[in-house]
Amino acid sequence: MQLLDGKAISSQIKSEIKAEVEQWMAAGGKKPHLAAILVGQDGASETYVASKIRSCEEIGFTSTLLRFDANTTEATLLEAVESLNNDPDVDGFIVQLPLPAHISENKVMEAVNPAKDVDGFHPVNVGRMCKGLPAYISATPFGILEMLIRAGIETSGKHCVVIGRSQIVGLPMSILMQRNAYPGNCTVTITHSKTQNLKEICQSADILIVALGRPEFVTAEYVKEGAVVVDVGITRVADATKKSGFSIRGDVNFNDVAPKSSYITPVPGGVGLMTICGLLTNTLKAAKREIYS
Ligand code: GUN
Repeated sequence: MQLLDGKAISSQIKSEIKAEVEQWMAAGGKKPHLAAILVGQDGASETYVASKIRSCEEIGFTSTLLRFDANTTEATLLEAVESLNNDPDVDGFIVQLPLPAHISENKVMEAVNPAKDVDGFHPVNVGRMCKGLPAYISATPFGILEMLIRAGIETSGKHCVVIGRSQIVGLPMSILMQRNAYPGNCTVTITHSKTQNLKEICQSADILIVALGRPEFVTAEYVKEGAVVVDVGITRVADATKKSGFSIRGDVNFNDVAPKSSYITPVPGGVGLMTICGLLTNTLKAAKREIYS
């Protein structure tokens, strides 16, 4: 078993981006600028956004955080999106999800200028990705592809099973793994809450991507000997032994599954750390006008 070490790979990617920013700016390019909108005080969202902002500072981007109250109206949020769309200094921005229930996430996503949609959530970017056109690939799929690439994992002709059909992970992952590219050329099965015989389907996976949001759901009996196992789960569970009062669990029972797998991502320290790299890569592409000129 080999660990797909998100900590090592993400720190390598960050130093590559930092070097590219330095080169870009030395050649007269503009300092990349990422803005983030955060609504309310959700603990996990606070942590994610703080870490995105910190990473921007580390690699030489400008960052701006716009905070809104949990009871902010949809109209106010749409105005903020419009003002970032029109701000020439902001290359890309994100609206941290989830949003409070009274605000339509789809409406907000669609209001973002696709050229600044560094989360890759706008239907135009999703559609372009599906057609194999230049597009911002969203953070988690980007992170997973990059882990497969850097470990040199063969994907062509393999059976890739994705558990979970979310807009953010499962759906884009299934599209990316079947495209005629590397990583890709897999035969993909996408599974979800209504799937029958889930265990049997997973047992035939060469590459198993688990993103259903149920802590330690996947045990050894789901996994074929020698499979590549990618755990996207990040669930906070109460843990009185931790200062924070919680610990983080993946969707895979690591100790059970690791001995059977050829490669496996740990949680924490796996896919989660890679996602920021996707966002930073997209922001640099936005600053360089590489996707939309
Ligand atoms: N919430 C969970 N993951 C993400 C992400 O990748 N981007 C945003 N904006 N919100 C999220």
